[in-house]
Amino acid sequence: MVRKCEKNAAANWDRFYKRHEDRFFHNRNWTDREFQALKEVSSSSVGGGGGNSGTTDDLDTDETQALVSGSLLSTSSSQATPVLLEVGCGVGNMLYPLLEKVPGLKVHCCDFSSRAVEIVKRHPSYDSERVNAFVHDLVQPSPTLDAVLAGHPFGAPTLVSLIFVLSAIPPGEQVRVLLSLFSLLQPGGTLLFRDYARGDLAQLRFHSKEKWAEPCLLSGEHDYYKRGDGTMSFFFSEEYVKGTLGAALREAGGEVESEEVKVVERIGVNRKRGIELKRKFIQGVWRKKG
Ligand SMILES: C[S@@+](CC[C@H](N)C(=O)[O-])C[C@H]1O[C@@H](n2cnc3c(N)ncnc32)[C@H](O)[C@@H]1O
Repeated sequence: MVRKCEKNAAANWDRFYKRHEDRFFHNRNWTDREFQALKEVSSSSVGGGGGNSGTTDDLDTDETQALVSGSLLSTSSSQATPVLLEVGCGVGNMLYPLLEKVPGLKVHCCDFSSRAVEIVKRHPSYDSERVNAFVHDLVQPSPTLDAVLAGHPFGAPTLVSLIFVLSAIPPGEQVRVLLSLFSLLQPGGTLLFRDYARGDLAQLRFHSKEKWAEPCLLSGEHDYYKRGDGTMSFFFSEEYVKGTLGAALREAGGEVESEEVKVVERIGVNRKRGIELKRKFIQGVWRKKG
């Protein structure tokens, strides 16, 4: 069953976007709660800070915007044009608010769901001068992202983001995918990861009903599950992110200069149902030696 799910992953995500179009994941509003660089830029130049709508029961949070923009602004200050590579971009919920917030930003973004990429391109703010959206499967060894991006006028990324994406990649492929993304960065560039942490509400839900137990859990070794629609989700422990992912990045030529990994707990509110949602995310930031 695991192999079948992994083989059909792109088709299952494509069906997900056929069903939900751009309605499932909420656009993240800007928050400057967590990152100093965003606080600085929000107060000095580009636009208002927005706020946390705090109403979502989808699998995402507003703070990812702050995380990415904060890192972008702090890592690309020495470069004329910040260039983000957003992998597993979905329908662009992070991308479009970010383009508004950071006027000089150029973005390469990809997803293996062609339907999601079509939706990104149909967006009224899609502008090929600033956005290069394309279909790409991170797990397939060929073509490499390196080859796909070579020669593109935006140039190499100064920041690579994986926002709720590595959890959809089979555990046996995660390190390889992460290392290949890290290798795309120029010295001084940053890799940014945010995803579901072990113990998040989305994981607890898998265990809340008898029928959601086996065979939803796909592995005896990892917190790796199959959702009802056939898509898969992994939940990350701090030890795994620091130990397995972090160690692999450090070992890859010892190019990691600094890293920051933390678990973030948040209470969301589902106003329709009048309930609180206890979310648990994990994020990591790794900077390539400059
Ligand atoms: C939970 S969604 C997150 C979407 C988006 N990052 C956001 O935060 O709105 C996971 C995304 O990863 C994409 N994805 C999963 N596996 C992938 C792969 N092997 N290659 C490229 N994209 C993938 C899915 O199509 C989906 O859009």
